[in-house]
Amino acid sequence: MSEKVMYIGESTVPKYLTVEDVIRRVEDTWRWYGEGTVVMPPKVTLDMSVLGVKGWVNSMPSYVQATDYAGIKWVGGFEDNPKRGMPYIRAKILLADPRNGDLRAVVSGDWISDMRTGAQPTIACKYLAASTHVVTIIGTGRQAYASLLCMSARLDIREVRLCDIRPAARERFMSLFPNAPFRMVECQSNEEACRGSDVIITVTNADAKLVEEPWVKRGALVLTMGSFTETSDDVVLKADRLIADHIGQSLHRGNIASMAHRGLVNEASFAAELPRIVAGTQVGREHADERITCQLVGMGAPDAAVAALLIEKMQTAGVEIPTFELT
Ligand SMILES: NC(=O)c1ccc[n+]([C@@H]2O[C@H](COP(=O)([O-])OP(=O)(O)OC[C@H]3O[C@@H](n4cnc5c(N)ncnc54)[C@H](O)[C@@H]3O)[C@@H](O)[C@H]2O)c1
Repeated sequence: MSEKVMYIGESTVPKYLTVEDVIRRVEDTWRWYGEGTVVMPPKVTLDMSVLGVKGWVNSMPSYVQATDYAGIKWVGGFEDNPKRGMPYIRAKILLADPRNGDLRAVVSGDWISDMRTGAQPTIACKYLAASTHVVTIIGTGRQAYASLLCMSARLDIREVRLCDIRPAARERFMSLFPNAPFRMVECQSNEEACRGSDVIITVTNADAKLVEEPWVKRGALVLTMGSFTETSDDVVLKADRLIADHIGQSLHRGNIASMAHRGLVNEASFAAELPRIVAGTQVGREHADERITCQLVGMGAPDAAVAALLIEKMQTAGVEIPTFELT
């Protein structure tokens, strides 16, 4: 018995996928999840601190019926990687035949993971934002770059305010958008950046209260995407609506986890899950002046679905995808 497994390396991935492909595929996968044709148990986290490594690895299995693959995203965050010139987030995606378990593909997942993460705020804004004219981004690393790349392709943005504890990270970020059709402003304080913003995005590797509730104006949308605490409790507790991409995961990871552990938030605290809003079975924003806090903790199914799309596009283009045999 032998399995023929396709493999696709990191440099090949962006040659066959566009930012638009990823945004569309993430939104489709959320809709499929909301419609019940994606099976995706909550992710499991492997803590690497026993090794003295400041890092973790998530196992994120899923079956996406529309792609006909069962897969797993294996993704870790390693705090010392950037000092070594490596991305903080490292990801691989495995796709298997859902009927017999045969491995079909191994796909490098760094670009896919970054772009999938970047697509999330764009889609969240479509369903939850009253306006996207003024956007604040706290944390100007890789996920922030992917987020603004995706948002600038779709949304009407006039001003982007940037915060990072490392001025060099802010400057580098600014240099990545030399012809931005919106104003980019480096901010010295989070308060200055948040006050008056339509959308506030936190996407840091901090474990700190970076946004305070009085700084969030009426009608604003707060999107938290980092893996640990990023806002004060009140940004969550005093929001008119609390939404997540995946409620179960949000209680264990990201900004809300510590509040869940302290008994301040539970499943009943959430008004909706974003994929169900996308599927039309739950309601998103109802009033222009509602303050919505949404945790986008990240689901594995969209990454697997983007990897499947990559294979489909390469095959349609007649590209011969290299394979290896597992015998
Ligand atoms: N939700 C998702 O779907 C998803 C997906 C991938 C990664 N993540 C998470 O997103 C976060 C960012 O990942 P990344 O790949 O962009 O990392 P990165 O290292 O490229 O960037 C993180 C940035 O946050 C900045 N930062 C750290 N502490 C800060 C603070 N107190 N105030 C302001 N800025 C601060 C750093 O200086 C850095 O520039 C991580 O927590 C990661 O685990 C989430």
